[in-house]
Amino acid sequence: MSAFVPGLFEGRVALVTGGTSGIGLATAETLARLGARVVAVGLGADRTPVSPGVDLELREIDVTDDEALRGLVASLDRLDILVPAAGFSLGDQELEWEPFNRVLSVQLGAVYRIAELCRPLLAASGGSLITIASMFAYFGGGTRVAYSAAKGGIVQLTKSLAEAWAPDGIRVNSVAPGWIETPLAEGLDAAAKERILSRTPLARFGRADEIGEVIAFLASDSASYITGAVLPVDGGYLTTAI
Ligand SMILES: NC(=O)c1ccc[n+]([C@@H]2O[C@H](COP(=O)([O-])OP(=O)(O)OC[C@H]3O[C@@H](n4cnc5c(N)ncnc54)[C@H](O)[C@@H]3O)[C@@H](O)[C@H]2O)c1
Repeated sequence: MSAFVPGLFEGRVALVTGGTSGIGLATAETLARLGARVVAVGLGADRTPVSPGVDLELREIDVTDDEALRGLVASLDRLDILVPAAGFSLGDQELEWEPFNRVLSVQLGAVYRIAELCRPLLAASGGSLITIASMFAYFGGGTRVAYSAAKGGIVQLTKSLAEAWAPDGIRVNSVAPGWIETPLAEGLDAAAKERILSRTPLARFGRADEIGEVIAFLASDSASYITGAVLPVDGGYLTTAI
């Protein structure tokens, strides 16, 4: 259930990468339900399970394809909200250079690249960039070395762009999701899920729409004095050391 007024983002345009699944799709739908025109890009665009009654402009785009990204941004005449949520982990394979580099390219390099390309549009609208961090931005992960490195980088990128782009009137913030039920989290084995739940005060995994709601808040005028913030949305996972 959304706490926001209908039509909150009427006349605004949002671009969400990773908008074909999980957190990106839920965010795209939240913004669209609140009146934004939403362009949602990612892989498997033609198989995206969009909720009935929600209007998304879906496009098949690989965020590491620079020409495709440039074409995408050039096709927009306005942009108020950018959410680069595309991502994946390759687990243990990330200890090898090629998979390490592939994860970094999507989870960090492509985030900066699309942000850079969108900067003039965001400056023109006084818009907002909301990145996706993770619990792996706070903790290391021996089975996710590239993913952790990328998410640590996302936090520093968020703070740095908040400062660099403030003169343009662009706010830059990050949401750090805890463990959220999406295809990405399905790879966890039963023991890992139990460990996570045992140290999560709210004792459940989060839903993707619970991340979308917080992103909507950070994109809204209610967050007009927030920039450079990293907001955990984790059921309390970060509250305890053991
Ligand atoms: N699910 C969680 O528990 C969790 C927790 C913290 C952070 N995150 C982050 O949230 C973001 C979304 O993850 P999710 O859980 O929704 O995963 P997901 O697997 O449901 O969705 C991933 C999305 O990224 C897209 N994608 C992957 N590689 C791409 C590429 N090269 N080009 C374009 N799109 C690409 C996919 O098409 C898909 O839309 C990621 O950045 C992830 O690191 C997820």
